[in-house]
Amino acid sequence: MTSPRRSHWDDVYTTKPADTVSWFQDDPTPSLDMIAQTGLGIGDPIVDIGGGASVLIDRLLDRGHSAVTVLDIAEAGLAVARTRLGERAGRVTWISQDVTAWQPPQDAFALWHDRAVFHFLVEAADRAAYVRALDCGLRPGGFVILAPFSLTGPERCSGLPVRRSSAAMLQAELGADYALVNEQPQTHLTPAGNRQDFIWCLFRKSARRATVQS
Ligand SMILES: C[S@@+](CC[C@H](N)C(=O)[O-])C[C@H]1O[C@@H](n2cnc3c(N)ncnc32)[C@H](O)[C@@H]1O
Repeated sequence: MTSPRRSHWDDVYTTKPADTVSWFQDDPTPSLDMIAQTGLGIGDPIVDIGGGASVLIDRLLDRGHSAVTVLDIAEAGLAVARTRLGERAGRVTWISQDVTAWQPPQDAFALWHDRAVFHFLVEAADRAAYVRALDCGLRPGGFVILAPFSLTGPERCSGLPVRRSSAAMLQAELGADYALVNEQPQTHLTPAGNRQDFIWCLFRKSARRATVQS
């Protein structure tokens, strides 16, 4: 059965041109700059969580990245990206899935990237499920980029409530196995000309595997 969450996002991508939504950016420089800070290579596996129709995937392919995955709850958003990419879409792994219900292969990714997705998880249980998926899919020593609205950002996005964050709040969600490497405020200008404050945070997961206490 289609969840209300999935229906919402599929409706967005089927009713609005991708370059008119508030989060649209034709130049994903904040993401690319933070990815560069990780020092990862073009063969290291990257997942873009809630990538939707974002052009980040295009720019990663332009740079030669060869192990890229885009996950989104909205199949319609992924379809926009696939159509735009044409034959290059075949170089990408596409996953149509709610991240809070996702069980990624263990240690599959060296980088987990999320722009404007985590802030939709206003329920603590959803954030905990998200962190479980992240913790499973991200290898020890891997990097996480989280870019939600900051404490001065909008209270809603796409008609939905959001949970604005500081770096300290994100650190508390991720736990002690993740160390904050860098934080960077950024203001996004929407296609309608409105300003939206984001906080960009780069975390690194501990290189040693956490041991389960019995
Ligand atoms: C504000 S848009 C940001 C899209 C993209 N990250 C970007 O920066 O252009 C939020 C995206 O997250 C996706 N999304 C929302 N909730 C999700 C969930 N629980 N699991 C996976 N994707 C989700 C939506 O379909 C949408 O594509």
